[in-house]
Formats: sequence, structure tokens, C-alpha cells
Amino acid sequence: MNQFIKTDPWLLVEERFDPARVKSSESLFALGNGVMGGRANFEEPYSGESLQGNYIGAIYYPDKTRVGWWKNGYPEYFAKVLNSAFWIGVGVEVDGEPLDLARVEVLAFRRELDMRRSVLTRRMTVRMPSGVEVEAEIVRFLSLQRRELGVIRYAVRPLNKAAEITFAPFIDADVRNTDANYDEKFWEPVATDGDAVQSRTKKSGFDVAWAQRVVLDGAEFRCDTKPERVCHSASVRREAGEWAVLYKYAGICSSLNHKPGELMAAARAVAADGAAAGFDALLKEQETAWAARWHSCDIEIGGDDAAQQGIRFCIFMLLQTYTGVDTRLNIGPKGFTGEKYGGVTYWDTEAYCLPFYMATAGPQVARELLVYRYNQLDKAIENAAKLGFHSGAALYPMVTINGEECHNEWEITFEEIHRNGAIAYAIFNYIRYTGDKNYLAEGGAEVLLSIARFWAQRITWSEARKQYVMLGVTGPNEYENNVNNNWYTSYIACWCLRYAAEAVAWVRENSPEAYAAICAKRSFDEQAETARWLEIDRNMYLGEDRELGIFLQQDGYLDKEQVLVKDLDPAERPINQKWSWDRILRSCFIKQADVLQGLYLFRDRFDEGTLRRNFDFYEARTVHESSLSPCVHTILAAQLGLMDKAYELYLRTARLDLDDYNREVEEGCHVTSMAGSWLAVVEGFGGMRIVDGVLSLEPRLPEAWQRLAFRIDYRGRVLSVEATHNRAIVSCEGEPVEILLCGERLKVDGRTERSMK
Ligand code: BGC
Repeated sequence: MNQFIKTDPWLLVEERFDPARVKSSESLFALGNGVMGGRANFEEPYSGESLQGNYIGAIYYPDKTRVGWWKNGYPEYFAKVLNSAFWIGVGVEVDGEPLDLARVEVLAFRRELDMRRSVLTRRMTVRMPSGVEVEAEIVRFLSLQRRELGVIRYAVRPLNKAAEITFAPFIDADVRNTDANYDEKFWEPVATDGDAVQSRTKKSGFDVAWAQRVVLDGAEFRCDTKPERVCHSASVRREAGEWAVLYKYAGICSSLNHKPGELMAAARAVAADGAAAGFDALLKEQETAWAARWHSCDIEIGGDDAAQQGIRFCIFMLLQTYTGVDTRLNIGPKGFTGEKYGGVTYWDTEAYCLPFYMATAGPQVARELLVYRYNQLDKAIENAAKLGFHSGAALYPMVTINGEECHNEWEITFEEIHRNGAIAYAIFNYIRYTGDKNYLAEGGAEVLLSIARFWAQRITWSEARKQYVMLGVTGPNEYENNVNNNWYTSYIACWCLRYAAEAVAWVRENSPEAYAAICAKRSFDEQAETARWLEIDRNMYLGEDRELGIFLQQDGYLDKEQVLVKDLDPAERPINQKWSWDRILRSCFIKQADVLQGLYLFRDRFDEGTLRRNFDFYEARTVHESSLSPCVHTILAAQLGLMDKAYELYLRTARLDLDDYNREVEEGCHVTSMAGSWLAVVEGFGGMRIVDGVLSLEPRLPEAWQRLAFRIDYRGRVLSVEATHNRAIVSCEGEPVEILLCGERLKVDGRTERSMK
């Protein structure tokens, strides 16, 4: 563990400048407003080590795939999240010497990210080579209210003598990705003119324009703009102790929302409107907009400040990454904090993130995530066709931005097909939570039947077993590839087949017009197809070991040498950095929840004994080398009453990035796993579940916590849940609602309290 960030309930604070930490802090202090975001790079040019990153949601570049051994079926390209123009630039000179933190003496440094309002502030005092001491305070935010606006206030004052301060605010559109496969630049210039620049992505043809409006009291700006770089400069003289304050308003507009020919004007208008409103008013707007976002999703943890900061950071990052305003956007594993992973949408969205947005941002936002996949259904059918599937079978990609597969490792691209199950499950989960069953008629059933068609073709009849089997798959545990009968994959496939059959029957009965349209559009013969689906479900092989009373992760799992994680030498961990891949594949060690992922999703179908036996067996063999893993185990441990275990696992998720457990936060934060931390608190310690269509809350706190309070948006109301070790209180804003509180069915009208059993 590496505690560099000060513990505080609402702030991220670092109190010293450490060049070795710059890249890590750039990830942690990143800003986003759901449609764009960027790393916390310094505004002024910095010649030390840094990873520049400014990203605009859904703007990507199809980078030609690079693999050693090309396998038919691989995608031609990998959609890269694009590093875009460095719009935050503000060059600063003091008496002609550049303020570059790598070249001046840093006397004091404090950086603060206020999570309540998404505002980044940096204060520092430096000694310039000339001996002038200078204090600077920089405030930056991306407006949540005006999604195309970025705002900077850069204040500088000399401390020990009068000096001339030169500001050179700039936008640099000549940028690259560090992860380019062929070292290519992904952007080409379109135009640069005065205060605006426009670039176009090669191949994908997205246009983006950036414009700046700058204000510095008492100064005239000179325009130093040149191709791909907008720059203005102005100098002012200040006495010792007297501030010079620059305001920069940047408009960032893309062809996703504007006609390419109108982009520069649009970006200028955004910047000009920002300047007209002024910094203080914009900051107020920002505070109000963020307060409204926090209202339905805050979590308070009493008695554990580190856990409090950890969970707020997770919620904050999720809010910065996705707000559901646009169906073309999604939640990348690194959000707007880094390039790594490319693509954007993984199964992480459905399996981990959807419940967070569903319970905090309202049904419409969650629905947008489902519609994203609905809009990509035809691409998923094409994707399956490339692998030889037919008749409208859909295989959603492992990674995508526009619906096409981007991943290119055969054992994952072709075999990690359980992702299709998560996409179907998300529809079920959404309807179960929101009650919006109509979604089946409005897209859900089409997705489900296309996924069911895939499973019906993907299984094989085994003459030897006289059962259907699922050959050559990779389960969630990526430390096993090309296995047969991965229990989780087969189980979720069967569930999909049944659920798809139910869904189309529901649409037939409740929405005949939609049913007729679906049958025509998808050439769907309900009777014949669903009969086959249900026959497969009845005859599917699902591995079990009756003696141990556990489900078998895959065929042959018990042939492996059964070593436990507790007996691994700590020096050999993480095994993915210390062992050869061959050794990992042959070992029994599990990267992330696999069988237990299934027990978590389908908890109601298994009794406690089954859960306990499987938990004891698989937890002991799981190394949790995916950040998506400990949260699932936390929830199951809490359901089993193993509170110490639950807490120990929880600590690995909530502060993973803040404390840089994996020593890789400099590449970006693990945004999707932050949704897992939310699940661990709300579903694990808060005991939130839907039981027979009713919201159930059964809080159970870890020893270290005195109090847990959280808010959820449930069917049009905001419910506040507060729990201590012996009491649970639920308050409802809105119409009274029926829930299960600690097992008792009751109506919450105002405030309701129950003692724990
Ligand atoms: C995990 C996958 C996950 C991906 C992106 C991998 O390490 O094994 O389950 O989808 O990261 O977060």
C-alpha cells in the first residue's frame, strides 16, 4: 500500500510535489463531465514525466490490429480511445523564465480535488532560477451543466519582488496516443484560425473543434496562433504580493453533435457564453449541478475515514464518467483517466456498472445503457457471422466502441462468450429493479432472442454424455483458456435460453404489434425456436462434484494440483507478474470470481449450504488479480455472515487506486471496478436485493464501521437507508413504497425504523 493521498471525506489532497508521482496523480485527480474528461496534467508545459490525456466520449480511431499470428475471425482494427487536443494549456513566464515544475524549485505544493463539485485546485509556491518567488493558484473544472465547456482560473503573484508575468494560454491539437500500434498520429488538421482549431480523426472521420476565450484584467492579448496550435499571449507587471489572474474558457465541440462546417463557430460560441457568464457564476452552476447528482447516491460510512473517502472516490469517478445523456457513450474500464484497454465497452458495463446507475441515476439513465447494446445488435449479429454463426445469432463483442469487436486474442475474442449472458442479464436486472417490463417490447426481446440463437448454435451434443456441452470457452476466470463446460458460461447460457423464451411470450401476449414486428424483422419462429431452446436447457451438462458439494468450474478442474492461495509465497504474487503464463494455466489459481459470479447473479436459486461450500472452496483458490473480483466475493461473504472476510475483501476494492495497490494507477483508474465497490457496500453491507419483485434491505455492518448510510433511487423515489449494528432506518422522499426491511414486509411512508435481528 502506498498512501500518498491524504484521508479526507470529500477531498483528494496531495501535499507535496513528487516528480515520481506525477503520472499517478494525473490519473487520480482526473476530471470528467460524462461526455469528456482528462487527466490532471498541469496547465503549464511540464518537461518532466507525464502522460498527457484529454478524451472525448465516443471519438475513436480504428488502429490497425497488430498480432503475431493472425487468426481468421479477428477484427481488422482496435478502436482506440483518442488522446485529443491539449485544451488546458496555459504557458506562464516570470521575467521571461518559463514556469516549468521540473525546472524550478518547488517550495510548497498542494493539489486538491473536491469531489462534492468536481473542481481541481492547485496551489504552489516556487522559486524561479532568477530568484523570484512566485505563488500560483489554479482552479479548473469541466462544466457538468454545459457539457462542451472547460474553465480555468490561473492566478500568479510574485512574492519577494515585482515581476513581469506573461501568460500564454494555448490549445495544442498536435497530439498522439502513447498506445498507437504503428506509431501513427490519429488526427489530421482541418483548420486553425485565431482562437479556434479543428481536427479530424483519420479513418473514422470525427471532427472536433476547440476554441478559447481568455480574459486577463488590464491586458491586451497578442495572437500567436499557428497550424494546430491556438495561442494568445499577454504580459502584465505585478508588484510583490499582487495577483495577476487569467481566466480561460474553452469550447470543445464535436461532429457527434454539430455539423462539421459549423464546429469552429459552435466551439467559439460555447467559450464566449462561458466568458459572458463568468467564472464565479459558472462555478456556482457547477456546485448546484453536482449537488443534485450527489443527492441520490451518496454513501456515508461512520467510523472509518479511509473507507469513506474510498467509496466517495468510486462514486465520484463513476459520476464523472457516465451520466446517461447520450446513448453513444458508455463506461470504459479507465473512464477518462487513461488510454489503456482501448475500446470502451466491456461486459463490465452490464455486470458491474448498470446496477450503480440504475439505483442512483434513475431508470432512464440505466435504460440508455441497454439501448446502447440494442443499437449495436446488428453489429453483434455480424460479429457472430464472422465466426460462422448464422440465422441472426448475436455475439456481442468483448470490447467495442461502435458495436464491432476490437479484441484480438482468440482465447478471449472467440471464447470468452459469457459476456453475452451479462448483456441478457442486464435486461432482466433492469426490469426487476425498475418494473419497466415494456422494455422487452421496445428492444429487450430482440436482443434476448438473438443471444439465445447464439447459445443454441454454440452448444454441442455429446454422444458420450448424452447431454449438451459447451466446448472451448474462457470463463470470467481468464487464467484458464479453451476449457470445456465452464459452469458459469453454461449456467448463464441456459438461463438466457429460458429468459428469452419467457420474454418473447410476454411480448406476444402484451404487445402483439411489437411481437409481429419482431417476428418479421428477425425472421423469428417462436414455436420452433423456443422449443429447441428449452430442450437444450433441459439437457445441458453442468459440472458438479457431489462429494465436495460444489459446482465444477470446468471439466478437469479437480485434476489440478489443489494448492491454496494462503500457501502461496507472497513474493510470488501477483502471479501474473511472477509466473509464466504456462504455469498459471496449469495451476488451480483463479483470477476472478467465476463459479461465484454465477452464484452472485443467481443467488435466489441456491440454498445457503450450496453457497457456503462453493464460497469456501473457490475463495481459497482465488487470487483476485482482476479488480472486478473482490467485490463479488465481498457480497457473498456478507450474505454468509462472514463479516471479517467481507471487510478484508472490501478493502481491496474501495481504495485500490487511491492507495495504488497494484502499482499501476499511473496508467489510469479502474473505473468499472469502482462500480463493484459500490455493489460491495450497497448489496454486500447494505444487503440490498430484489426478492420476488420487492426491494429488500438487510444491512449488516463490518465491525470497523459504526454507521452506514446510503441513498438509492427506487421507482421514482429517493430512499435513504441508514444502519448501525442494531438498527436500520429507511426514509422515503416521494410516494410511500412497499419494501422488505430486515425480512419484514412493510410500507415506507416517511421514516421507518427496525431493529436488527
Ligand atoms: C478482466 C475482465 C474485464 C477486463 C476489463 C480484465 O482483466 O479479467 O473481466 O472485462 O479486465 O475491465
